[in-house]
Amino acid sequence: MPVIAVVGGQWGDEGKGKVVDFLAERVNMVVRFSGGDNAGHTVINPFGKFKLHLIPSGIFYPDVTCIIANGVVVNPVVLTKEIDDLNKRGIDTSRLFISDRANLVMPYHILLDGLEEEARGGGALGTTRRGIGPAFTDKVARLGIRAGELLNRETLKQRLGFVLDYKNRILTRVYGVEPVGLDELYQQCCRWGEGLTGHLRDTSAMLDEAVSNGDTILLEGAQGALLDPDFGTYPYTSSSSSLAGNGCIGAGIGPAKIDKVVGIFKAYNTRVGAGPMPTELKDKTGDLIRERAQEFGTTTGRPRRCGWFDAVAARYSQVVNGLTGAVITRLDILDAFDKIKICVGYKLDGKTINYFPADAAALYRCQPIYEEVAGWQTPTSHITGYDELPSRLKDYVSRLEGLIDCPVHLACVGPERSQAVIKTPIF
Ligand code: GDP
Ligand code: IMO
Ligand code: MG
Repeated sequence: MPVIAVVGGQWGDEGKGKVVDFLAERVNMVVRFSGGDNAGHTVINPFGKFKLHLIPSGIFYPDVTCIIANGVVVNPVVLTKEIDDLNKRGIDTSRLFISDRANLVMPYHILLDGLEEEARGGGALGTTRRGIGPAFTDKVARLGIRAGELLNRETLKQRLGFVLDYKNRILTRVYGVEPVGLDELYQQCCRWGEGLTGHLRDTSAMLDEAVSNGDTILLEGAQGALLDPDFGTYPYTSSSSSLAGNGCIGAGIGPAKIDKVVGIFKAYNTRVGAGPMPTELKDKTGDLIRERAQEFGTTTGRPRRCGWFDAVAARYSQVVNGLTGAVITRLDILDAFDKIKICVGYKLDGKTINYFPADAAALYRCQPIYEEVAGWQTPTSHITGYDELPSRLKDYVSRLEGLIDCPVHLACVGPERSQAVIKTPIF
C-alpha cells in the first residue's frame, strides 16, 4: 500500500518509462506529476514498443488507473494523438484521467519556444521546442488556460481573448511574426474540450481516495534532477521541478503520504541539449556508448551526449530528492568494455571538490576525477537472477550503491519489461 515516487536521477532518459511499466504490475494507480510532452518514456512489453510523452507508463495494465495530474502541462493535440495511437494498438485508455487543473500547452507556446530559442542564438538551451517553458511561464504568470476551462465555453472565450491579446502583442511587436487568430483557436479549444471531457476530473480527490483505500500508487516523474530548475544546471534546465518533492504539489498529495522515493540512474551518463556535463566523452568511447545504446532522444531524435557515470552528481541527486532507493539501468551497454570509469570527484580551478557546484560556469570548468574498475565483458541481457550476474557487474553496482548512498533495488540489463533483475525488493 505504499506511495512510491519514481524520479530521474540524472539528465532525463534514465529509463523511467521502462521501470514504471515493470513496477506497475503491482500497483493500483500511476500518476504523471511534472513536465509535459518534452518527456519521452519508452516502454517495451508484450504489447510492443511505445514512446509515451504524456500518458503514464502504467497504461498497459487493465486494472491500473492512470492520471495526468495538475503539475503536467498538457498539449491537447499530442494527448489526443497519443490516446488514439494506443487505442489503435489495442490499449484501453478508458482509465486515463486528466486533472482539470492542468495547464494547457497552446500553439502560441510552441511558437514562442522556437522564437525564444532563435533569439538566444549561441546561448540556446536546446529545448525540445514543445512549448513547455512558455507554458510553465504562463502558469506562474497567471496567464495559463487550464484543462477544466475547456468545458466552460463562455468564460473560455473571454479568457482566451484576454491572454491572446497579450501574446499577440509579443508575437507581432517583439518577434515580428503573424498573430494567432482568436476564433480559430477558440474553435480548436472547443473541439479539444469535447474530445477530453470524459477524461477530465479532480484527480487530486481521486488520489486522496486511493490513498485512503490503502492503494499502491506510483508517482511517475519526468526529466531528471539535473534538469530541475532549482537544483539542476541552471539555466540549462527544464521549467518544472523534476524532484520527488514536486510529486506532492504536482499530484496534489501531502508530503507525509510519500513512503518511498526511487531514483533511476543509467549505468553511465547522457544528456540531450545544451549545458555543462563534466563526464562528457567527446571521443571514441563516447561514440561507442552512443552507438551500442542507440542514444538518440526519444522526443526529438537528437544524438545524446554520452559519458561515464558521475557519482558526484548522483549523490547530489540522492540528497535533493531524498532517495530511499535506486535503480541502475542499461548495465548491458557496458558489457563490451574492458575498463569502466566512475567520476568520484571534480578538479575545479586547481582544487579537488566533491560537491556539485550551483554555477553552470563553474561546472563547465570541472574536470572529472576518475576511479577505474574492470569490466565484466560478457553478455548479461538474458540473466534474470541477481546471483547469476557476473561478479564484476555486481561489484560495479555495489560501488554505485555506496557512492549514491542508497540501496539499489533493480539492475536492468535490457529495454524490455522482463529485463530487470531484482537486488532488493521495492514492495
Ligand atoms: P525515460 O525518459 O527515463 O523513460 O527514458 P527513455 O525512454 O527516454 O530512454 C531510455 C532508453 O533506454 C529507452 O530506449 C529504453 O528502451 C532503454 N532502456 C531502459 N532500460 C534499459 C536497459 O536496462 N538496457 C538497455 N539496453 N536499454 C534500456
Ligand atoms: P524524460 O522525461 C531528457 C531537456 C531538453 C533541454 C532542456 C530544456 O524523457 O527524461 P524543455 O523542452 O524542457 O524546455 O528543454 O531539457 N529535456 C529532456 N532531456 N529527457 C527529458 O525527459 C527531457 N525533457 C527536457 O533536451 O536540454
Ligand atoms: Mg526520455
